[in-house]
Amino acid sequence: MLPRGFNILILLMSTASLCPAQPMVGINTSEKNERIPILPGEVWLDDRDSVINAHGGGVIFRNGRYYWYGEKRGRSASMGVTAYSSADLLTWTYEGMALEHDGIDTLSDIRTGCLMERPKVIHNDRTGKYVMWFHLELKGKGYKAARVGVAVSDSPTGPFRYLGSMRPNGNMSRDMTLFKDDNGDAYLIYSSRENYDLRIARLTEDYLNVTTADSMIFSNHREAPAVMKHKGHYFMVTSGCTGWKPNEAWLHRSDDIMGPWRRVPGNPMRGPMAELTFDAQSTHILPVDGVKGGYVFMADRWKPGDLKDSRYIWLPVGFEDGIPFMEWTSSWLPVK
Ligand code: GAL
Repeated sequence: MLPRGFNILILLMSTASLCPAQPMVGINTSEKNERIPILPGEVWLDDRDSVINAHGGGVIFRNGRYYWYGEKRGRSASMGVTAYSSADLLTWTYEGMALEHDGIDTLSDIRTGCLMERPKVIHNDRTGKYVMWFHLELKGKGYKAARVGVAVSDSPTGPFRYLGSMRPNGNMSRDMTLFKDDNGDAYLIYSSRENYDLRIARLTEDYLNVTTADSMIFSNHREAPAVMKHKGHYFMVTSGCTGWKPNEAWLHRSDDIMGPWRRVPGNPMRGPMAELTFDAQSTHILPVDGVKGGYVFMADRWKPGDLKDSRYIWLPVGFEDGIPFMEWTSSWLPVK
């Protein structure tokens, strides 16, 4: 069923012709006239014919282009934050490292060996800056540091300048996301207290710090938050806390971003493996081209043995009675 009131035309294509048994290595989407659809879970190449390396990521739209930021991964290593850009969400140009590690011979928080996860960027219309927040774990400390890092840039593609890290209002912070509201207020949503609590903190006007407006969303041991706003209502997808292993997504709804948030009963995912979020974990929900009613749900199909080969599960968001859902499709084209 196609979602009602949906601004993206989903062209379901023949999976036989579009999902070859072999990965799409060798197909450079920028050289072809035809539009290669989004193929959730398949290998996705950039303009250099390299596999896109931008996991746990987020996308923003600015001045006619989409910018995708994500974790650069080796087999297991965290290697900083990459940036890619696109005019159509299909073909992506590699824009280089948005934020690199500071190297080995330094005491910096972001020295080689640290973990940078789930980077999210928002544009501050008041200061004109692009502001990045990311989950930061310090070198050699596993996931014990539980901090969030902040970096800033004048350009969407960076390089971003690292400003520092914190435990927001003294709280542990692991999986996180940012949400920028229509009025320009922005929020950090973060898993705290060993991931048992999910919290939200309003950012300062420059987006470089948290304010003390910081409240509990719920205490259900959830992570991987991804937030969207539709017709004045806020919706949030989260995962359970099973590390790289997939689990069932939950959907929460609120009329006030600070809460109270209430769970929407049932599973927001539909189709094969919906109970495991299609073998993936939420990372971001992208409003498409600023068009109301159009959103793309983004998730990661993690491969813990070779993280750089983790796949992207991007699906259109549909609505039923005003409630979002994500239905599996193996191939689709976003059309403005
Ligand atoms: C997941 C989390 C990922 C990563 C992973 C490490 O729970 O969502 O971002 O931190 O754990 O095991």
